[in-house]
Amino acid sequence: MFKINENFLELQDSYLFSTIAKKVAEFQKNNPDKKIIKLGIGDVTRPIAPAVVQAMSKAVMEMGKPETFRGYGPEQGYDFLRNKIAEFDYKNRGINIEPDEIFVSDGAKCDCGNIGDILGNDNIVAITDPVYPVYLDTNVMAGRSGKYNSEKNIYENIIYIPATADNNFVPELPKKVPDMIYLCFPNNPTGTTLTKPELKKWVDYAKENKSLILFDSAYEAFISDEDVPHSIYEIDGAKDVAIEFRSFSKTAGFTGVRCAYAVVPKNLKGYTKDGKEVYLHGLWNRRHGTKFNGVSYPVQRAAEAVYSKEGQKQIKENIKYYMNNAKIIKEGLEKAGFTVYGGTNAPYIWLKVPEGLTSWEFFDKLLNEANVVGTPGVGFGPSGEGYFRLTAFGTKENTEEAIERIKNIV
Ligand code: MLT
Repeated sequence: MFKINENFLELQDSYLFSTIAKKVAEFQKNNPDKKIIKLGIGDVTRPIAPAVVQAMSKAVMEMGKPETFRGYGPEQGYDFLRNKIAEFDYKNRGINIEPDEIFVSDGAKCDCGNIGDILGNDNIVAITDPVYPVYLDTNVMAGRSGKYNSEKNIYENIIYIPATADNNFVPELPKKVPDMIYLCFPNNPTGTTLTKPELKKWVDYAKENKSLILFDSAYEAFISDEDVPHSIYEIDGAKDVAIEFRSFSKTAGFTGVRCAYAVVPKNLKGYTKDGKEVYLHGLWNRRHGTKFNGVSYPVQRAAEAVYSKEGQKQIKENIKYYMNNAKIIKEGLEKAGFTVYGGTNAPYIWLKVPEGLTSWEFFDKLLNEANVVGTPGVGFGPSGEGYFRLTAFGTKENTEEAIERIKNIV
């Protein structure tokens, strides 16, 4: 008799965005004439920049000719892309990351989940609360969470670090020391950020306690304030304690194309049970080479073109477009009397739901009365209760219409 991985039985319901998609499909089936506006999952709507499409098309044509055809590429990514990432995303910001510390992949979601393969299953995990559900669910699957407490909506072995309006969305250093700490800034779902001194506290804490920081900076391209760090490696000493995840999904419209990368610094060490130091770079390289065959050549050429002069200009226009949507949402909701957070350095707006409603009740009200889809805060963790997330990734027309509709139902 074969056995299943029983950790999966500890997972709650389905993945948040699948639950929402099911509810929306049901509503549409019962109300076929209603035009639903989706500002729920953070999926982009702007087409891929012309310079990027051109590079991808050229690469596709190369694949059709015997003299330029390519089979398997290097699992870690082609040098042409790793060099560009090292130069543009790090060196130009005064950070020294070597190209071979960069591992190109098919998504930050996958990387954030897969990284657990090289980490001990008895590590204590800390997540900020609310949080992008992937960090939690992948640790439940790996058996690091312990049992679920349905009354409190928490797992017994996970350290939840609240980030709410009460602490200005700056999570406090936990008293019980975790081994693995997930941080996402600019934050999904709250759209808030940390300053360099605030982030430095986490780096120092991790160093002092021999913890590992898993830093998701998928939304760094949306930062406009000068004092907000784009990378954790802007903080001295971070290369000794942190892995960073980045993605082309939101930056360059690659949610359907799939390309991202993880940075595993060569001097970053983990520990065996008896305290022996082991370099994580070698472990991740081994894992990547064994379980992954690399991102396709045309997609890596497309990602490379993101860094061209034209590509940079074009993706920045798209980012500006989305941040204008964020402004429309933020200002519109504030005028309607809502308390709103985020939306200035991130494409997410986090609002307080009207008094007396839970975040799922507000979800239902918005869907039924305004035909607008957002994401209930509690889906991101217990401290998300009473909040609601809207994304700025819709079209401008839909964003404006959604805000008008919301104004009319409150
Ligand atoms: C979100 O809506 O939180 C994101 O789209 C999820 C993701 O990037 O996987």
